[in-house]
Amino acid sequence: MPDHDLRSAGLELDTTKPSPARVYDYFIGGKDNFAADRAAADMVLKDWPEIRPAALANRRFLSRVVAELTRRGFRQFLDLGSGLPTQENVHHVAQRIAPDARVVYVDNDPMVLAHARALLDDSSGTRYVHADLRDVDEVLRAALDTGLIDYDEPLVLLMVAVLPFFRETDDARGIITRYTGALAPGSLFVCSGMVSNTAPPEAAARIRQQFGSAPSPALIRTRAQVNEILDGFEVEPPGLGNVRTWPDPGPDEFPLNYGGVLRV
Ligand SMILES: C[S@@+](CC[C@H](N)C(=O)[O-])C[C@H]1O[C@@H](n2cnc3c(N)ncnc32)[C@H](O)[C@@H]1O
Repeated sequence: MPDHDLRSAGLELDTTKPSPARVYDYFIGGKDNFAADRAAADMVLKDWPEIRPAALANRRFLSRVVAELTRRGFRQFLDLGSGLPTQENVHHVAQRIAPDARVVYVDNDPMVLAHARALLDDSSGTRYVHADLRDVDEVLRAALDTGLIDYDEPLVLLMVAVLPFFRETDDARGIITRYTGALAPGSLFVCSGMVSNTAPPEAAARIRQQFGSAPSPALIRTRAQVNEILDGFEVEPPGLGNVRTWPDPGPDEFPLNYGGVLRV
């Protein structure tokens, strides 16, 4: 989508401030990022070099979990905080295994919208919804309006590397349960995020400093805080843990891509 179209849609593509979607793209070796994103990412990497392998491991977890759940028979995926459509996106993985798999992506970064408009083909069983995932009713309705989602059938809800973007003041638990409450029995909720039980304090401070003014400042939670948000969900084996080697239990190492597959 050209810049002027984004502007007329009220969406400014500000390339002078780091954007979480583009910083993450830089971490995983993508090319859709700008100098401000790379500068912010490099500052974080200086204190916390493990974040790059962690981001790559997260991306591989996303591919593995989508492949596994497609093989198990799931045919619809609602991907909240989908990020830039780089290589091996959810629809590539799912539709390679099951060409009839349907995927709806949701993100609130204008850059993601621009890429989605350019790359996604309306006939492909894949759509993009530009929305803030905290506007649960709007997202659920917009996903339904794509014609690809049927809430009466089991669905896979993905929130992969998205938990850090819930602010302290957001009711993360409430938002999640409003989504899962709208889904048919048998649906699954895939959730992961970086946790920081042992994060170097300089790195945590750097992340706050770099992303404090971003539209979605990242907040690295402890494992205990994530457990509290996800408390009460039944978890598929191997349970909540490091998703680096999912579905095998992962090593208890830092930094952890902590999460798992939860039953709805
Ligand atoms: C770290 S990326 C993860 C991308 C992808 N899920 C993955 O795991 O590869 C986080 C994404 O969440 C998006 N995001 C953050 N807050 C959001 C919000 N409130 N509504 C919609 N998207 C959001 C960001 O724009 C970014 O693209």
